[in-house]
Amino acid sequence: MSADRRAHWEQVFSSRAQDRVSWFEASPETSLRLIRSCGLASDACILDVGAGASRLPDALLREGFTSIAVLDISPSALEQTRERLGPLARSVRFIVADVASWRPDFPIDLWHDRAVLHFLTDGAERAAYAEALRSGVQAGGYAVIAGFAPSGPERCSGLPVVRADQSALAALIGPEFELLDAFEQDHVTPGGVHQRFLFTRFRRGTAQS
Ligand SMILES: C[S@@+](CC[C@H](N)C(=O)[O-])C[C@H]1O[C@@H](n2cnc3c(N)ncnc32)[C@H](O)[C@@H]1O
Repeated sequence: MSADRRAHWEQVFSSRAQDRVSWFEASPETSLRLIRSCGLASDACILDVGAGASRLPDALLREGFTSIAVLDISPSALEQTRERLGPLARSVRFIVADVASWRPDFPIDLWHDRAVLHFLTDGAERAAYAEALRSGVQAGGYAVIAGFAPSGPERCSGLPVVRADQSALAALIGPEFELLDAFEQDHVTPGGVHQRFLFTRFRRGTAQS
């Protein structure tokens, strides 16, 4: 795990209120819509990588999902989620890891990423991310990946980002994944700034499909 990277994010989450960071969403509606459209069973395993202190696990629990995992490089971010969820946190798996050097040791039905891949600017790290995704997501499983669109900001949280289009994301995660959805959307930060995001949804083919 990169110590500098972890220190950066620990500093962010230990010094900023959850609802004041630029990526804050009171309710992750677009992610939820894309997840719902996959028609997963309630016991499907949903992993949110780079989850931060996002409200996604709260919403997924409300939707009835019973196998939710959140991964982040910042222990403080995950602690905020644990505290917010209270007793419900017992139903969520918390993983402190750098997604660029982590390998799943459990099968994943849906991999969700809102604004973490775009921080991986090194080609080898992006390839390692894709390898982790491919090793975890089962045939018939899904990947929902959102990051800054090609016309979006060049930096996030003071760090440079890669603004990929859907073709670049498809090439990164590999031909076994079919692109089902791709659309751009503005996120409005708590400070009122508009940031252009690209949302994508992929499905991993089965032997029959
Ligand atoms: C822009 S925030 C997005 C948080 C969350 N997905 C959301 O939509 O609210 C990026 C998150 O990725 C985490 N992160 C950054 N680099 C990471 C890495 N290499 N591995 C795991 N998490 C990382 C940060 O700690 C932070 O929580």
